[in-house]
Amino acid sequence: MEKIFENNKKWVERKLSEDKDYFNKLAMGQKPRYLYIGCSDSRIPINEVTGTGPGEIFVHRNIANMVVHTDMNLLSVLQYAVEVLKVKDIIVCGHYGCGGVAAAASNKQFGLMDNWLRNIKDVIRLHEQELLSIKDEEQRQRRLVELNIIEQVLNLSKTSIIQNAMQTDNPPRLYGLVYDLKEGLLRDLNVMEQKDCMKRYEHIYNLEQDETN
Ligand code: CO
Repeated sequence: MEKIFENNKKWVERKLSEDKDYFNKLAMGQKPRYLYIGCSDSRIPINEVTGTGPGEIFVHRNIANMVVHTDMNLLSVLQYAVEVLKVKDIIVCGHYGCGGVAAAASNKQFGLMDNWLRNIKDVIRLHEQELLSIKDEEQRQRRLVELNIIEQVLNLSKTSIIQNAMQTDNPPRLYGLVYDLKEGLLRDLNVMEQKDCMKRYEHIYNLEQDETN
């Protein structure tokens, strides 16, 4: 822990030497453009990866970048980001080599988190045919990581928070990105361009607001 405090002091000194009002400005408030929903994995420092600084990205992280509709934590972050901060871009970012995704693809018990990973097993069930058609184990894992990201973006679009935001003048844009740990590169999965998967189940997931409210 000593190292942490030591580094922190050095960082404060460096920031103040660059701009003596650096912290005063940040303390005045935040107006982040992005909401980032990513994996808790320690190898993806999203500000560093994207060249953004404090105040630019509102962050939610959990194991395997999941959007689970009973997760009060995620829903609270999402509602605040969309309705109060009015973020423009919402990013679900997963990564190849995700331990959570690999655990969900196995049949081992991992304790409490089995209940969390169950949501990824549903992704596997939804895309079982495609996944079974991929013979190479690593390629299959990589595709599962991508499919999980796509499904989590779709899960976002199933929330009333996003559906209501889509009716406003400045609807947020949704993105599914995958990060390659071996290369350090982010890639856009163009989830929103895959209109079919969005539209196909609209009749099931559409939530209309009661006009009398
Ligand atoms: Co991960």
